[in-house]
Formats: sequence, structure tokens, C-alpha cells
Amino acid sequence: MNILILQASPRANGNTAWMAEEYKNAAEAAGHKVTLVNVSRKHIAGCLACEYCHGKGNGACIQKDDMQELYPLMAEAEVLVLAAPIYYFTLCAQIQAPIQRMYCVNAPAKVKKMALLCSSYSPNVYDGAKAEFRDICNYWHAENTGVVTAKIDEQKTDATKQKIIDLVAKL
Ligand SMILES: Cc1cc2nc3c(=O)[nH]c(=O)nc-3n(C[C@H](O)[C@H](O)[C@H](O)COP(=O)(O)O)c2cc1C
Repeated sequence: MNILILQASPRANGNTAWMAEEYKNAAEAAGHKVTLVNVSRKHIAGCLACEYCHGKGNGACIQKDDMQELYPLMAEAEVLVLAAPIYYFTLCAQIQAPIQRMYCVNAPAKVKKMALLCSSYSPNVYDGAKAEFRDICNYWHAENTGVVTAKIDEQKTDATKQKIIDLVAKL
């Protein structure tokens, strides 16, 4: 399958980046085509709610920032993986912007399956992220293949790596 991973942590060698890389490695080993994008390094603004896209824009966003690189990748992805740290009890802003900028096309055209990789310092901080992820999967009519989380003592461990391998096996 054609897999797009959006990695949203600004820490290039951090825990979320490690989880995204492990997902990529396992998916490629299983024969999938994987594109990994570090969206935290992109300039992607929030949606302006100007409704240009639903009028004159005919599905195109008026903002010409780095989201323009992402739209074609989103359009071709069959599996969308969101990888994000928890900031203030929810998914970090760097993942929210690209998700919300999909407003112009409503949903990624070919995405059938989704997964979430999430890291935090503390335990029991994933309810908001999981609820948002579940609702987006439903809204985009994509199967929620699951969520792997890694709090401080679970980061970069063999146990977490195995959970990610098991998640990839659900594709
Ligand atoms: C702005 C900010 C807010 C954070 N908020 C939380 C939080 O609410 N709960 C938590 O457990 N950890 C929180 N953290 C810690 C990160 O989620 C944690 O260090 C995570 O592993 C970072 O992922 P990374 O290594 O991929 O950057 C926060 C970190 C930052 C920088």
C-alpha cells in the first residue's frame, strides 16, 4: 500500500521521530511504499476559514505555503499515519495544521486506513488525542488500525518497537 507518515515533532532525534522511523522500517520490510514527511519543518499555517476553496478556488486553498507539497501526497496516500507528541494533553499544533488544511478537499481521496503514533512524558494523557484520532478516522471513512503510545519509560524500547510492528501487520 502507499503509506504517508506525517511526523510532527520538532525534535529530529526525539521519541516521535523514532516511532515514525520504526513504522517506516516495518512497513517497507512488509513491501509497502512509504513516504515520511517531517511536517514540523514545514511552513503550514492554520486554515483561514475564508471559504475560497469552496467557491472560486474549486477545491484549492488560497494559502500557497508548504501545504502545497503535501496535497499531492495526501491525494495519493492509501494509509495515513499521524505521528505526534502530546502537548498540553492533546496532539501538538504541528499535526493539527495539516489535518485542518484538508478542509478544502474535505478528506484525503484514497486513504482507507489510519494509525496514530504518540509520545508523552506522563501516563494517562492520551484521551484527547485518541478521541480526536477516532473521530477523524470516522469522518474520513478510514479504518482506525490502532494507536501506539510511548510515555517516558516506554520510549525507544523493544516493547514499543514490537507494538509498532504489530500495528503495521494490521495493514
Ligand atoms: C510544549 C510542550 C507541552 C507538553 N505537554 C505535555 C503534556 O501535556 N503531557 C505530557 O505527558 N507530556 C507533555 N510534554 C512532553 C512531551 O510530550 C514528551 O517529551 C514527548 O516524548 C516529546 O516527544 P518528542 O521526543 O518526539 O519530541 C510536552 C512537551 C512540550 C514541549
